[in-house]
Amino acid sequence: MTSTRLDLGHGIGLRTTHFAQFLAERPPVDWVEAVSENFMAPGGRPIAVLEKVRREVPVVLHGVSLAIGSVGPLDERYLASLAALVERIEPALISDHLCWGTHRGQYLHDLLPLPYTEEALAHVASRVAQVQERLGRRLLLENPSAYVAFKDSTLTEWEFLAELSRRTGCGILLDVNNVYVSARNFGFDPLEYLRGIPAEAVGYFHLAGHQDRGTYLFDSHDHAVPAPVWALYREALRRFGRVPTLVEWDDAIPPLSEVVAESRRAAAIEAEELSAPARRLAS
Ligand SMILES: [Fe+2]
Repeated sequence: MTSTRLDLGHGIGLRTTHFAQFLAERPPVDWVEAVSENFMAPGGRPIAVLEKVRREVPVVLHGVSLAIGSVGPLDERYLASLAALVERIEPALISDHLCWGTHRGQYLHDLLPLPYTEEALAHVASRVAQVQERLGRRLLLENPSAYVAFKDSTLTEWEFLAELSRRTGCGILLDVNNVYVSARNFGFDPLEYLRGIPAEAVGYFHLAGHQDRGTYLFDSHDHAVPAPVWALYREALRRFGRVPTLVEWDDAIPPLSEVVAESRRAAAIEAEELSAPARRLAS
């Protein structure tokens, strides 16, 4: 299952607190990302709003409960709800996280990192293939932000993701903030991570804020994108070229205008970076 990268532009997360304003003002965003689970009820306001928004801009569905790395069978009820939402919204892309989050049928409400081993790779690849078959669509998986790692890992996270994409054709949602957070927490080079990700697999970027808690960074999504993440975003643009980019803001959510301004800032940085070689040649 392969796919060429869509040229979606710059988007923001569609949040409940912004529903009315988004519909009334139609802010200058090229696309929105909707958290799949928040729109799975077949009736009610959320899905009605999403259908209206969908008539205006492309929608990307981003899930948090697929638990692609968990053991035990995939949750068929969840997959059926997701498939119904996909059919109704016709999203531009469908994503979830490279993590596990269920144990014996119970949701742990956390995005937990996997051991990066050959055994885990085979397991996750098989489940990705099942999900893609079930949805009839390519799945994109997001690199997690991590605070713990398994001693048993024999592959780096980027090697694991690259090989998973090669085996299954799945795409990669590259969260630039998560790369930065994990690189700081574990002491690896974020540029080595970027170099290890196959460009053709990258479907879109996430940008977000984090907190410095002294001994580690925490992926909090509760404020503006910090300077080191903007710097890594520039590196990612140089490595991957033009990639759809989404600003995430999930806690202490500010007025819509502030989130939109952050997304426009990403667009300005992208324009600057992608025109840089021409500028250098001209000078
Ligand atoms: Fe993210």
